[in-house]
Amino acid sequence: MTTYTFADLPYAYDALEPVIDATTMQIHHGRHHKAYYDNFLAAIKDNPLNGQPLETIFAHISKESAALRNNAGGYYNHNHYWNVMRPNGSNAPSGALLDAINSTFGSVDACKAAFKDAGIKQFGSGWAWLIVGKDGKLAITSTPNQDNPLMDTAAVQGTPILGCDVWEHAYYLHYQNKRPDYLDAWWQIVNWDYVAELYAKATA
Ligand SMILES: [Fe+2]
Repeated sequence: MTTYTFADLPYAYDALEPVIDATTMQIHHGRHHKAYYDNFLAAIKDNPLNGQPLETIFAHISKESAALRNNAGGYYNHNHYWNVMRPNGSNAPSGALLDAINSTFGSVDACKAAFKDAGIKQFGSGWAWLIVGKDGKLAITSTPNQDNPLMDTAAVQGTPILGCDVWEHAYYLHYQNKRPDYLDAWWQIVNWDYVAELYAKATA
């Protein structure tokens, strides 16, 4: 049985400043993420999938309600997002992950540019993703709303190793409508060590 917990952030609300301001983080984690968590618990309560890992739930999500899809997605996606960021995260990919990025995209900069493009072109609310596809190769994609690439409904499916929230609630206080500026600054706080861990697990 999986227990669905609501975790504190792995750092203080102001730890990602100036890239993401403390007020945004407080509202994002304490209100938006909390609401997804609470609504997910309500949606899964009487469902036979209750207690299953989120990955299992997502593999069958096309047969489930919109409430479960949106809130299970919101709960998972935000947990992922908090963990792929860290204060002073401006290290760089290395090892097997760097090799894979170079062979897939040509360079880290080209990978970042493609990721930014996916984030900018995601119309309305959603997420930009770097994933390990079912073929074991890296790919960049985006999903609308709180969908993610683990869902059987996703156009491009795979295991997320780096996801960026491009909902306005993630950046509007500081960046207003300038989503590209948020996506550019965001690399400063990416926790590449954690991304490398997710890459290793996804390719094991
Ligand atoms: Fe969000």
